[in-house]
Amino acid sequence: MKVLMVCLGNICRSPMAEGILKHKVKEQGLDWLVESCGTNGYHIGDSADSRAISVCTEMGINIKSHRARRFKKSDFESFDIIYALASDVYEDIQYVSNSPEQMKKVKLILDELHPGRGRSVNDPYYGGRNDFVDVYHQLIQVCDAIITNYR
Ligand code: 4NP
Repeated sequence: MKVLMVCLGNICRSPMAEGILKHKVKEQGLDWLVESCGTNGYHIGDSADSRAISVCTEMGINIKSHRARRFKKSDFESFDIIYALASDVYEDIQYVSNSPEQMKKVKLILDELHPGRGRSVNDPYYGGRNDFVDVYHQLIQVCDAIITNYR
């Protein structure tokens, strides 16, 4: 399984999702590829947000080597599942896509927990550390669901 996590900046939500899913995949001994990227280019080459790094580190997940990159058309071919962390991200990916076939791979990540509800992981960038902790716990739950659903 090749999984791509996508948010806007690739410095908060999707690097946390990548780090958490990689951690769980390793724990389970699964041979999955997990990466992340963002739909906007504002933070290309940057490390994850210091609050994302700090919350993950506290929980035993190391995302310090992460560097942000932008979503690209070839990602539709390189991955089996592309998770949009939020509905605006889903729309950005749809804009880049040029076939319904490509969009079949794209899902809202929280639909793995709450099918059909169309829920988004809230952007913690303009929030406080608590918002990053909330995102972390939401992602722990959804990554468990992903492994249960696709292993
Ligand atoms: P992320 O958070 O999409 O979870 O990485 C954001 C980080 C930066 C910006 C937006 C969202 N920004 O516009 O700079």
